[in-house]
Amino acid sequence: MSLQSAADLIRSASVIAVLTGAGVSKESGVPTFRDAMDGIWSQYDPLELATPDAFRRNPQRVWDWYQFRRGLVRVARPNPGHYALAELARRYPLYLVTQNVDDLHEQAGSIGVIHLHGNIAQTKCSAHCQGDPTLVETYDEAASPPPCPHCGAWLRPNVVWFHEALPAEALSAAAQACQKADVMLVVGTSGLVMPAAQLPVLAKRHGARLIEVNPDESAITPLCDIKLDGPSGRILPQLIEALDAHD
Ligand code: OAD
Repeated sequence: MSLQSAADLIRSASVIAVLTGAGVSKESGVPTFRDAMDGIWSQYDPLELATPDAFRRNPQRVWDWYQFRRGLVRVARPNPGHYALAELARRYPLYLVTQNVDDLHEQAGSIGVIHLHGNIAQTKCSAHCQGDPTLVETYDEAASPPPCPHCGAWLRPNVVWFHEALPAEALSAAAQACQKADVMLVVGTSGLVMPAAQLPVLAKRHGARLIEVNPDESAITPLCDIKLDGPSGRILPQLIEALDAHD
């Protein structure tokens, strides 16, 4: 029933916005942050690994930990949820905004993905010596961390850490998408991290109906018009089937 209602809402939309979080990549083997059993922050302290201060205090520990996470992302492949979102964008005007630092949406065929929290595969100068981001492709792979080939400052992953601002262009594009959307799909996010968690609120304030896909409750659930309970790798393909059933 709710799948059909969600399909009806989507069919009636002129513009769709989608916000994804770590949950959409979980079935690809990339761990979430806050799942109680296996979430990254249940095993590691973000203040020791994902802040500018942590990097200043111990650049090697932070670099090595991100190298470990890069390894997890490098072998991951898109799951049916990523493919279903790419398919949805082929059928409807759709803005895809993600908090994820992997590129699994792109691998599944999505284009123009708005990355709010950066890209873990990219490396940048921590001193922003040629502007922010100063992306660097060639560096000493054996160093931990390697120095910037332009200025000698430490290199770091191109991700947003706690206490850092989001890339302004991405945030502005995401906010515009939410203001235009009649329907917003919120997939696999706890809705606990600002300012991303504010985007569904913004969309709702501008008249969008919200559909959430998540096996659990999130901070966004109370705002949602439709809640689709379950893993996105199963629910999103079912949503495409529900759209097909009527088309
Ligand atoms: P969280 O780990 O906070 O939340 C993951 C959400 O995914 C939870 O609500 C789960 O219930 C849900 N979930 C789990 N399995 C799922 C599945 N198979 N399908 C769909 N949903 C599932 O991750 P985010 O909300 O993305 O920030 O976290 C937001 C930000 O906090 C991250 O981008 C990261 C982190 O600190 C930075 O790195 C800056």
